[in-house]
Formats: sequence, structure tokens, C-alpha cells
Amino acid sequence: MSGVRNLLVCVTGASGAIYADRLLRAAASQVERIGLVLTPQGAEIAAHEIGWAVDFEALEITGPPPNVMARVRLYHPNDLSCRYASGSAAPDAMIVVPCSVGTTGRIASGLGDTVVTRAAAVCLKERRPLVLVVRESPLSLIDLRNLSRLSEAGAVIMPAAPPFYSGPQTIEQLADYFVARVLDQVGLRLDHPGRWGG
Ligand SMILES: Cc1cc2nc3c(=O)[nH]c(=O)nc-3n(C[C@H](O)[C@H](O)[C@H](O)COP(=O)(O)O)c2cc1C
Repeated sequence: MSGVRNLLVCVTGASGAIYADRLLRAAASQVERIGLVLTPQGAEIAAHEIGWAVDFEALEITGPPPNVMARVRLYHPNDLSCRYASGSAAPDAMIVVPCSVGTTGRIASGLGDTVVTRAAAVCLKERRPLVLVVRESPLSLIDLRNLSRLSEAGAVIMPAAPPFYSGPQTIEQLADYFVARVLDQVGLRLDHPGRWGG
């Protein structure tokens, strides 16, 4: 186990739900507790792209394997009374994957109106690692300014741009090599064959 015991993973309405799936699988072997939040649009796109099914009333999700779900607790995106809404219970690190530019705009504005935007605001003010795996193309000047603002405030901006130098054979491998770089950013350094060896 690493120093990260409590990780918050948020899935928003950008393409790239596979990154969330592969990241949860990788993190589950390293982290005691993983909080998971999907925005309504994040759940829609995850259903379309990777077949996840989220029941927001029962707070249940099908899709991630049982060994992963053993570490995961799903939170409602509007549950502003949940632990992650408070600075006194900030997660050790937060990753938004994939992250829409709508969400980056809301975080950059300091809205704090959902668990995703409030937990991000908490991480920034409490100086906890916040990684935004942003997926949009092309980016407008407004998007770029929001990202620049977030970077200045301490967030790590990781465009969902996976590396090809390690010769991935499958789309899952490609995603795995990328999410390993994302997890590096929160101090979870996994052994995997996709690292550049020189
Ligand atoms: C199929 C589909 C794919 C989308 N992909 C992206 C994307 O890659 N990046 C993005 O910023 N928005 C994308 N959007 C738009 C967002 O889902 C939309 O702006 C939404 O309001 C984001 O809300 P959220 O950030 O609260 O999840 C997509 C929408 C649809 C229907």
C-alpha cells in the first residue's frame, strides 16, 4: 500500500470512460478506499462506451469487476453532505477521469455546486493532489484559460493523450500505460512494462 489511502475518482461527461475503468482496476490493488462519483453525463457516456450501468437511486454500479468494487464506494453527484464535500475529510488525492471542459470551467470558477466541483475546490484549498484528465479537441481559448487557471491553482492537467512508444497491442494496454502516468502524479507508482527504458 502507498501513502494514498483514500482516493477520490470522478468520472465526467467526456469521452474516454475506458481510462476510468483501467484506472480503478490499477488503483484498487494499491489503495484502501476509493470514492467514486459519476456525473449524470459521465454515467451516460460510460454506459455507451464501456457498458457501465449506474443506478443513482440505489447507488449501485455494474461494470467494474467485484475485486475492484470491494474497494469502491459510489457517491451521488449531488450529495453535498458526503465526506468529500468537507475540507476536514479531504481525500489524499483526487482524479477526474475523463474530465470534460464543462467540469474544468466549473472547477475553475470555484462553483462547488456538486460533489465533483466541491471536492476539487477542497483539494485545491487543502493542497491535496488534484489531477484532471481533460478530453476535448480542439480546445477553445476559454478552455485553455480555464486550464491555465487551474494549473496556477495547483491542479495537474493531464490531457487524455496516451503514449505509443511502449508498443501497446490492445486499446486496454494503451489505456493502462496512460493511467499509470496519471497514478504516478498522485504517488501511486505501479510496475508495468510500458515505461520507457531508454
Ligand atoms: C457522446 C458525447 C461525448 C462527449 N464528449 C465530450 C468530450 O470528450 N469532452 C467534453 O468536454 N465534453 C464532451 N461532451 C459534452 C459533455 O458531456 C457536456 O458538456 C456535459 O455537460 C458535461 O457535463 P459534466 O462535466 O457535468 O459531466 C460529450 C457529450 C456527448 C453526448
